[in-house]
Amino acid sequence: MNNELANEIRSKVDIVDIVGERIPLVARGKNFFGVCPFHDDSNPSLCVSREKQIYTCFSCHATGNVFTFLMNYEHMDFRETLRYLGEKVGVDVSGIHIAKKNTKFTPFYEAYEFSLKYFQNNLQSKIGKDARSYLANRKIDEDVIKEFEIGLSLDSNDDLTKLLTSKKYELSTLNQIGLSSDDRDVYIDRIMFPLYDLTGKVVGFSGRIYRDNGLNKYLNTKETPIFKKGQLLYHYHVAREECRKAKSVIVMEGFMDVIRASTIGVRNTVALMGTALTHEQLQLIKRLSLNVILCLDGDDPGVHATLSIGDMLLEEGIEPKVLPLPNPDDPDTFILNQGKDKFLGLLENAVTFNDFKLRKLKESVDFRSDEQTAQYINQVLQETTKVKDAIRVEIILKKLAKEFDLSYNTLEMRFRELEKPKEKERPVVVTYTKKKKKTKYEKAMEQILYFMLNNDWVISQFEKERFIFPNEESRLLASEIVYYYTTYGHINIPDFYTYVQDKEEVVNFLNDILASNYAESTSKDELFEYFGVIREYSRTQEIKRLTNSLKKEVDPIIQAEIAEKIRKLRIGDNKNGWRN
Ligand code: CTP
Ligand code: MN
Repeated sequence: MNNELANEIRSKVDIVDIVGERIPLVARGKNFFGVCPFHDDSNPSLCVSREKQIYTCFSCHATGNVFTFLMNYEHMDFRETLRYLGEKVGVDVSGIHIAKKNTKFTPFYEAYEFSLKYFQNNLQSKIGKDARSYLANRKIDEDVIKEFEIGLSLDSNDDLTKLLTSKKYELSTLNQIGLSSDDRDVYIDRIMFPLYDLTGKVVGFSGRIYRDNGLNKYLNTKETPIFKKGQLLYHYHVAREECRKAKSVIVMEGFMDVIRASTIGVRNTVALMGTALTHEQLQLIKRLSLNVILCLDGDDPGVHATLSIGDMLLEEGIEPKVLPLPNPDDPDTFILNQGKDKFLGLLENAVTFNDFKLRKLKESVDFRSDEQTAQYINQVLQETTKVKDAIRVEIILKKLAKEFDLSYNTLEMRFRELEKPKEKERPVVVTYTKKKKKTKYEKAMEQILYFMLNNDWVISQFEKERFIFPNEESRLLASEIVYYYTTYGHINIPDFYTYVQDKEEVVNFLNDILASNYAESTSKDELFEYFGVIREYSRTQEIKRLTNSLKKEVDPIIQAEIAEKIRKLRIGDNKNGWRN
């Protein structure tokens, strides 16, 4: 692998941009923080350093440079990250050849790619006339049809199945991936909306009826090896960039809503596609932004979904906002009937989830009944325990006191009572596995290694020493650092990463060091203190070794020599030459 090319590319990209394009980052001091995508979390434990061009998770200890980030996050291999970044920063990467990765799923994707083109052609052909006028009626114009790659399946039993089998596809494959059923087409005379995976590859379809034929409104691709509905969100591949720009993500129910919102320039959207939100989807939403806006349908099921998704997000430590639509609108019909400005107005004034919930709660209470009123007040207090902002809590309590003519103290007391058990319920989860305790020698060695990674001169000092290492991993890392330094004449952490990335033990240990809180730079005096610790270790180890060989030695002359060495070591003579 071409290290120089890698280093050139690396020096031209900023890891903060690359990570920031994928997960929301907040600047704090010199560093940037975000929710780590490599373990299940909602705390900002991922630290990205512009200065060092590395990231480190304080919780799961994931660490690395811009290449390792992309490799892990995008599941790219190293060459792919080079190509991708090289193209981004204008470094010639034409020399990097990436063999097209063929997996067992490749034919599946190809069949979908083919079907997509086929459906699109149908819609544009003479046969597509009715479907086109249906779309025109719904105000879905040519641009949108193109952008969302909308197509049409034919009113035929097996047109697509025949076409695909006349290519290279086995019927069994077509059945497996949900394009055929037995030897017939699955989709008959429906407007075809492609469904994409997280990277934007077509992996399924949703077919909508466009004539009044009494059939199910939508027909979706069944679960297949490449289409797992609960792990996808419609529009995710586009939303990724858009949510970063908009600093928020809008969650909708249907893909028609997303498509409509896109026509008014709102593209930081994803759709659930009619399923209850899964845990995987929740994680995906969090990856897009921590500012979540729920914009579901205005009907009862929509309100229900809003409440349950909102609660799920709260459990993850995220309080979403809600854009409540009038019943029975959905974003599609609302935008269509009320226009862009009204929708943007609602978006601007999205309410907090808590307010939304309380409002809904209130609608169902008969305030003539004392019992229901008391129950309502208790419920409000219960919900308020989930609000993290103390000022908002006080505002809510004050309003409530005023509204029901109760004393603030009574309400607050009750509130504190309700608050208590919550804390017990929430144990702090330590996610990383506990490592065995490090000895003081190991710690000193790690500090020295970290100095070496950050200061060239420390490496030159280090080379003069002849240490015995407290463990094998530090010996390995030290020798790699020295080798790198002597080869390139200079060391920096992100490029060193590129160099060691195939050496798993080294990378692991390096990550460990980077995730610990070691000082970066040092004075000579301080450095020699750490060296002193390792010298002491080396000396005692050497004495141990010599004592052992002394026991085994039979030759009295050699015995005397060894004894003399031990004596010198014991009195601290022979400072660096103890290993003669
Ligand atoms: N859905 C489905 N099957 C149905 C109804 C709905 O799979 N019979 C899914 C679709 O993915 C759809 C989402 O649930 O995008 C939301 O449903 P709905 O609100 O009924 O669809 P709309 O977006 O309103 O679609 P349209 O305006 O075309 O009726
Ligand atoms: Mn609709």
